[in-house]
Amino acid sequence: MAILVSGGTGYIGSHTVVELEEAGEEVVIIDNLSNSSLKTLDRIEHLTGKRPVFYQVDILDREGLHQVFEKEQITCCIHFAGLKAVGESVQKPLEYYQNNIAGTLVLLDVMRQHDVKNIIFSSSATVYGNPAMIPITEECPKGSCTNPYGWTKSMLEQILMDMQKADPSWNVIILRYFNPIGAHISGTIGENPNGIPNNLMPYITQVAVGKLKELGIFGNDYDTPDGTGVRDYIHVVDLAKGHVKAVEKIKEQPGLGLYNLGTGIGYSVLDIVKNFEEASGVKIPYVIKPRREGDIATCYSDAKKAERELGWKAEKTILDMCEDSWRWQSQNPNGYE
Ligand code: NAD
Ligand code: UD1
Repeated sequence: MAILVSGGTGYIGSHTVVELEEAGEEVVIIDNLSNSSLKTLDRIEHLTGKRPVFYQVDILDREGLHQVFEKEQITCCIHFAGLKAVGESVQKPLEYYQNNIAGTLVLLDVMRQHDVKNIIFSSSATVYGNPAMIPITEECPKGSCTNPYGWTKSMLEQILMDMQKADPSWNVIILRYFNPIGAHISGTIGENPNGIPNNLMPYITQVAVGKLKELGIFGNDYDTPDGTGVRDYIHVVDLAKGHVKAVEKIKEQPGLGLYNLGTGIGYSVLDIVKNFEEASGVKIPYVIKPRREGDIATCYSDAKKAERELGWKAEKTILDMCEDSWRWQSQNPNGYE
């Protein structure tokens, strides 16, 4: 009996595989390696003493998926596979809808044919758009997304809900992540962005190792305590543990479940810079730039529903997140290369 982890060599997937293995679960990974490296498997093996079963399969490849389901005893899928670069999705909407939406439809159909009807889906706080309430509970209505990537998450949530409603033998858990940062405490696995990072933490760590000159802070005139954007940063290992709890929950046949995975605490860009400097001992030069299109002032979760129903709560502090991001980046200045 195994958990299928699509996108399991990626950033959140690899951390989740480690936590699943440590919780005694069997894992089978599928990934097309479009945004990850095979070396991740060596690193996972080094950490857990166990090499996960791996298939290089695209979720659009129906026949390839069939073969995996024929060979392996899959009970549940944690579905991370997808393209996630916001800016790129604006340039290449068709590629994003094809990969994320068509790919998920193929995966769901193959799961159904093999009577595997348990899925945990990676969604994002981006589906709240400019949130109607802060902190954001799961009751907060979904908003208008500012980019195709966000729409793929919003639409896939709807597709999963419609599917579960039509066939209640499906169990679907939708997890809306806030801002995952950090890395495994060993510094062995971490985030490996392609090219110049768009997200705050990988940008900061690359400034710290000298790969980038300075951080640009996108706006200091927001209606926030220090004028810079406020987000709910969550340690990737806490997030990974949330998936282990979701696997436990799905065994109870919950029907449909929807949870925010965040800490419930908001930090500004300047808070992150300050904490990173403290954690690493490295000064981060920065300049204030204009606001980035599509950004919102404040986004943080109410994380109580996951605590109540999944028995999960984020435990790591912002300093832990900065220390672990720094350990990963300084030990692996070129990621997995
Ligand atoms: P990632 O890019 O590191 O991992 C995604 C993995 O999916 C990669 O290994 C990639 O090679 C694989 N993949 C992409 N398309 C595929 C396909 N067609 N077939 C098979 N494999 C494919 O990203 P991540 O940060 O680990 O994110 C995992 C999931 O969580 C994604 O769905 C992402 O949208 C979602 N998410 C991420 C964040 C974040 O900040 N990292 C926030 C919210 C939601
Ligand atoms: C981004 C995505 C969102 C995705 C989330 C998690 C956008 C518009 N949104 O969210 O869809 O779900 O990542 O992957 O890209 N910042 C700087 N300088 C930088 C980078 C970021 O000041 O070089 C600021 C941003 O303005 C924001 C904060 O840092 O206030 C966090 O930014 P980022 O890490 O990109 O995450 P989000 O924008 O919250």
